[in-house]
Amino acid sequence: MDILFTIKHFIYSGHWNGHRVHSPNIFNFFKGAIFYKGDVDYSLAENSRKNFINSDEKIFVLSIGAKGDGKTLKEKKISEIASRSSSYGKYGRLLQRISRYLKPQKILELGTSLGIGTLYLSAGCPTSKVITVEASKETKEFAAKNFSELGLKNIESINAKFDDCLEEILQQNPDIELIYVDGNHTKEATKKYFSLIAQYAKKETVAVFDDINWSKEMSSAWKEIKTSAAVSVSIETLRMGIVFFDKTLTEKYYIARY
Ligand SMILES: C[S@@+](CC[C@H](N)C(=O)[O-])C[C@H]1O[C@@H](n2cnc3c(N)ncnc32)[C@H](O)[C@@H]1O
Repeated sequence: MDILFTIKHFIYSGHWNGHRVHSPNIFNFFKGAIFYKGDVDYSLAENSRKNFINSDEKIFVLSIGAKGDGKTLKEKKISEIASRSSSYGKYGRLLQRISRYLKPQKILELGTSLGIGTLYLSAGCPTSKVITVEASKETKEFAAKNFSELGLKNIESINAKFDDCLEEILQQNPDIELIYVDGNHTKEATKKYFSLIAQYAKKETVAVFDDINWSKEMSSAWKEIKTSAAVSVSIETLRMGIVFFDKTLTEKYYIARY
């Protein structure tokens, strides 16, 4: 993460002044997902992350995404990946509550890594099918083994590059209602994924973009996404951008202090 860029953006964005909520559906989303205060059991994802942080195992990881060449394999400790690249804390929990609130028929995650985000999404709605995509073969296999050891039968792990499979997945699964984009953080790629998602989006579709202030490029991609004519409502926190495609929703932008 480009820490300096993120801090500068936070200070200068100048609109971190809470949220205004008029649309009844969006009000329910804030209440039922973002600021939900009821009991939620986050242990599925959090126990796995804890185990991974204590692991001595190493795997070969494909260097891919904004800083990778898509070719080199690097040996990495599971503990390092779990602490640096996996969902955790309040944002992992937010994912689970979004899934819990929306109860989507199917969920698509771009960027499995060790599968911690996948577990938050799955735990939120165990009856949803979760499709998760990861280009790094050994990483995908590590995550899939953990899903199977946990007895989870609702997760389909795909080993592919997003560019090679996203359109086909969207075409073949019109019942995908929640999409979590968490990999390949370049402006060009993020805009491309958004435009495919928008092309196939239904009224119920909600897409969550992670790391929207990770870099200048990501911040600029997010600005274009949230102002796109395809988006009816966007909600942003410092880290995540959430977009709705339901044209019956009124208000356009919200900023949530989260
Ligand atoms: C930040 S990690 C994902 C973390 C995970 N979603 C979570 O919540 O724990 C991003 C993952 O995306 C994968 N990735 C990056 N670019 C990709 C691409 N173009 N195609 C497929 N996978 C990609 C990386 O290998 C990495 O494992």
